[in-house]
Amino acid sequence: MANWISRVAQTCPVHPSLPTPFLQPPLEPDIVVGAATSLSSLAVEAQLLAVMENFGKALAAALTLGFFSMVFVLRWVLRYREGLSWEGGAALFNWHPVLIVSGFIFLTGLAITIYRLPWTGKANYETMKYIHGALHTMAFTYASFAMMAAFGSQSAADFPNMFSLHSWLGLTTFSSFGLLLLVSACIFLLPFTPLSWKTACMPIHGFVGRFLFGSTITVALTGITEKLIFGLSDPKYTDSPSEALFANVMGMLLVGYGAAILWISTRPAWKRTSEFTLPGGVEDKLEFQHTYQLLCDLSASASHHD
Ligand code: HEM
Ligand code: HEM
Repeated sequence: MANWISRVAQTCPVHPSLPTPFLQPPLEPDIVVGAATSLSSLAVEAQLLAVMENFGKALAAALTLGFFSMVFVLRWVLRYREGLSWEGGAALFNWHPVLIVSGFIFLTGLAITIYRLPWTGKANYETMKYIHGALHTMAFTYASFAMMAAFGSQSAADFPNMFSLHSWLGLTTFSSFGLLLLVSACIFLLPFTPLSWKTACMPIHGFVGRFLFGSTITVALTGITEKLIFGLSDPKYTDSPSEALFANVMGMLLVGYGAAILWISTRPAWKRTSEFTLPGGVEDKLEFQHTYQLLCDLSASASHHD
């Protein structure tokens, strides 16, 4: 008993004396910790290969959908609308959808998926956090320019501000994203934040992050619809001109990209061990906190008896 307890404690992902917690040796076959059942290392390797093959397909699907969304938004404003320019007018407004789709939505999707890429299992955890944070910061910067383009062009054209549901939802999502970025940087990047706070905040962080990613796409869909209703007069949106069909397809691509990213980021099997989680896809990190505490207590009492 004391033997396995001390072994579990040695492989404990947050044990301070351990190096990087990734790819820990598997636990004994009969030990079940939360949802993480250990297997022999060969079986684990075979499983990992199969799981990663599916991961590759899902990632390829997500990237293809994301890439085509970007191509579509560029083609939309260049072929059907007035092009792009920072000089003002409609061409200034067009930066709004372009920066939102190619920057805000695409980069946020990448940032969310980054923790699931197989190579990140061997990467330094601190580095991963900075890459994740940097991608989100870039996404937010793109979004800020997109906001400037929308507000700037509408004010210059004497068009009312903040009247639509799209603008309300958009500003709320944008501000919440900025707030999440700030709070997350404080919680996860500051070295003196207690580990217990990080662990407790992790499920909330994951939920709010995914929710905001989904909201951004939803807001974009309302924006596309609004632009088509306002922008098309002869022929009208209801006449289904080619621009309307084209922009509708773009909306579908965005929904597909969002679904693929959310699918990837919610598969327990594709979640690797981290500072806050155990191998085998334990989703509930608060439960892990309990398990960890239990193992540490058992380990302490075992070494006391030895
Ligand atoms: C392809 C995506 C998008 C398109 C085509 C689009 C389109 C538009 C249009 C036509 C307007 C002017 C009408 C109005 O004020 O409602 C607008 C304004 C606005 N959009 Fe978007 N939008 C998109 C994505 C987004 C996203 C994702 C956000 C935020 C998360 C956002 C935030 C805003 C805000 C805050 C305004 C108000 C600007 C003002 O009142 O001057 N938009 N958008
Ligand atoms: C500087 C800012 C940020 C830092 C330092 C940070 C840090 C982290 C950390 C440490 C994790 C845990 C990964 C793991 O399972 O080991 C994580 C996951 C996650 N973050 Fe952030 N985050 C930041 C900003 C954001 C923002 C703005 C969003 C909003 C979209 C977001 C969305 C997510 C999501 C959805 C996950 C879950 C990923 C998964 O389960 O694979 N993060 N973040």
